[in-house]
Amino acid sequence: MEKKTFYITTPIYYPSDKLHIGHTYCTVATDAMARYKRLHGFDVCFLTGTDEHGQKIETKAGEAGVTPKEFVDRIVEGPRGVKDLWKLMNISNDRFIRTTDDYHVSAVQRIFRKMYDKGDIYKGSYKGKYCTPCESFWTDSQLKDGCCPDCGRPVVDAEEEAYFFRLSKYAGKVRDLLENTDFLQPRSRVNEMVKNFIDPGLEDLCVSRTSFTWGIPVDFDQGHVVYVWVDALFNYTTALGFLNDRYDDYEKYWPADVHFVGKEIVRFHSIIWPAMLMSMEMPLPKHVFGHGWLLLDGGKMSKSKGNVVDPYILAEQFGVDALRFFLMRTFPFGSDGNFSNELLIQTINTDLANDLGNLVSRTTAMAGKYFGGTLPQGCSRWSAPLACDTELTAMASALRGAYESQMEAYAPHNALAEVFKVIQRANKYIDETAPWALAKDMEQNGGRLAHVLYNLLEATRICGILLSPFMPESCQKLFAQIGAGADLQTWDSAGTWGALPETAATTKGENLFPRIDMDQALADLEAAEAAERQSALPAISLEPQLTEQVDFDTFCKSDFRAVKVKACEAVKKSEKLLKFTLDDGTGTDRQILSGIHKFYEPEQLVGKTLVAIVNLPPRKMMGQESCGMLLSAVHTEQGEEKLHLIIVDDAIPAGAKLC
Ligand code: MSP
Repeated sequence: MEKKTFYITTPIYYPSDKLHIGHTYCTVATDAMARYKRLHGFDVCFLTGTDEHGQKIETKAGEAGVTPKEFVDRIVEGPRGVKDLWKLMNISNDRFIRTTDDYHVSAVQRIFRKMYDKGDIYKGSYKGKYCTPCESFWTDSQLKDGCCPDCGRPVVDAEEEAYFFRLSKYAGKVRDLLENTDFLQPRSRVNEMVKNFIDPGLEDLCVSRTSFTWGIPVDFDQGHVVYVWVDALFNYTTALGFLNDRYDDYEKYWPADVHFVGKEIVRFHSIIWPAMLMSMEMPLPKHVFGHGWLLLDGGKMSKSKGNVVDPYILAEQFGVDALRFFLMRTFPFGSDGNFSNELLIQTINTDLANDLGNLVSRTTAMAGKYFGGTLPQGCSRWSAPLACDTELTAMASALRGAYESQMEAYAPHNALAEVFKVIQRANKYIDETAPWALAKDMEQNGGRLAHVLYNLLEATRICGILLSPFMPESCQKLFAQIGAGADLQTWDSAGTWGALPETAATTKGENLFPRIDMDQALADLEAAEAAERQSALPAISLEPQLTEQVDFDTFCKSDFRAVKVKACEAVKKSEKLLKFTLDDGTGTDRQILSGIHKFYEPEQLVGKTLVAIVNLPPRKMMGQESCGMLLSAVHTEQGEEKLHLIIVDDAIPAGAKLC
C-alpha cells in the first residue's frame, strides 16, 4: 500500500544575522513533528531554507563591504551558519531552499507574470508608510503609535511606481476560509486576523519595488524587483518543483499539510498567501499554525536588543537533545513563553536527570545486578497482579493514543506531558515495589522481582519510542540499554504492551542525562558567551602610539596632497613594489613607488584619489626614483598584516592640500 504523504514547512529564515534560540524553537518543533509523522508511517517532506532577498540584506551587505550574495552565502553556508546549526541540532529536513537558487528565481518570475496576465497584478503608484527592517508597508490605521506594529520601530513615508496585487478581490473568500474552516490554528489567531486586517478592509498589496535592486527582477519591467514576501511565500511550492524542472514532487506533496510559522508572520500566511494561491488557482495548504514567541525578560529576542541566546553555546554546553527537549516540553506551542537559562537547567535536572535518566539507570542497573542483565523466561506474566502493576501497564498501554491526539493537535508540549506522566508513574512503581527488598530473598521473590523489572523495561521502551522524535540520539542510547532492537522501536510496537522479549539483553550504560550544577553551569555559560563575543571581534593589534611630541611648526612642514592615480604597474623583478604615475595638481606627473603589491593589484587603483606626502627627498628603489610616499592605515589582524591605502573622495581635486 502506498504511504500517505505529509508535507510540513518552517518559515524560511532571513540570513541577515546569526540565528538565535527563537528561530531554533520553530525548526525543532517542525523537526519533531516531521519525525513523529515518519514514525507513524507517513512519507514526509520537511522543507526549510532561507529568504535571501530584500532591502535589509542589501543594506547589511553594503555595511559589511561585500555583495549581497557574498553576505548571505557566509551566513547560510559558512561556519556556524544556518546549515551548520540545523546539522548540529539534528534537523531532518528533506530539502533546503535558498530563494537565490536559480530554479526558484525563474519560477517566481513566471508566477508574477501569470498573476499579471490574469489581471490580478496591475501597475500603480504607492504612497505609504514603510518599515525598512520588516520590509512591510503599512496603512496609517495599522500603525501603532505612528510606528511599525510588528517591531515598534519608526516608519518612513514612501512613494514609488509599483505593481499591486488585487488582495481586495479575495477578501470575502479569505474571510470565509478563516472563519469557517480550521485552516488557521490555534483558533485564537483567527480573531486577531479578522479584527485587525479583514474587518478594516483589505487593501491591494504592493508587490514590486524600484528603490533597491537585491531581489528577483520583474522580467517584463526593468527596474522593478518582486516584493520579498511574494518571492518568499512561493518557496513552499517551488521547492517541490512548481514551475521548474529542478524537482518533481509538486503533485506528490502539494498542498502542504501544515506551515508552522511565528505569530508575527501569520498575517502573511493566512491572508496574503491563500489569496495569491487562489489567484494562481492552486490548492490551499491544509493548515497554518501560528506559534508563540520565546521571550527574554518579557520582550522579544532580537539581535538589536543584545539579548540573543546563542543556540550553539546552549547545545554545546547542555547537549542537543536536552535543548530540543526543553524547547518542546516547556513552552505551550501556541503561546509566548519566557526563556531563561535557569529554566533550561531546571527542566533538564527535573525531567531528564531525575525522572527519565533515573528510571533508565535504576531499571537497567537492577536487571544487571539481580539477573546478569537478562530476565528469566515467563517474567512478563504474573498470576496476581497488584493495583500498581495494573495501573502502570494500563497507563503505558494507553499512552500512544493520548500522545497521538496531542501531536495531531500540534500540541507537542502536551504530548510530552503525557509521556512524563507514565515516566513518573514508573518511578513511583519502583518505590512501591521496592525491588531491592524483593532481592533479599531471591528464592521466594525472584519471580516477582523479574516481573517488576519487566514492567519497568516495557514502560521505558514505550516512552522511548514516543520521545524519539524529540530526542533522537538519546533514545537510541536508551533502546540499546534496554535491549530493544529496531523492530521494537516502531509506532506499532509503541501500541503493544508486552512486545519486548522477556529475555531481552539489557546493559547498564552511560548515564543518559547527568545532573547539572546550576551555579557552575551558569558561570560556564557566561564564560562561553563572553568568549564567543570576543572571537566575533577581529583580533586587531595596532601600532603603539608615540609619546614623543612634535611641535606644530615641524608638523606643518610635511606637505600632504591629494593625488590621482593615472597609471599603476608592478615593478619588474620586485614582488612588493608598485609604480604609480600620479597627477599631483602641478601639471607634471609625479612618480611614487610603494611596497604594497601584496595588498593591491595595480588595476584596482587606477582612477582612485589617494593621499601622498610630496616633500620627502626623492629616493631610488630598484633603480627607479620615488618622489614621496603614499599614506595608508596598517594593523595586524589575527597575526596577519593588513594595509589599506587612504582613498579619499573623488570630488577632492588632485593637488588639494590636506591640513
Ligand atoms: N523570512 C521570513 C519568513 C518567510 S516564510 C515564507 C521571516 N524570517 S525570520 O528569520 O525573521 O523569522 C523566521 C521565523 O522565526 C518566524 O516564524 C519567526 O516568528 C521566528 N522567530 C523569530 N524570533 C522568534 C522568537 N523569539 N521566538 C519564536 N520564534 C521566533 O520571518
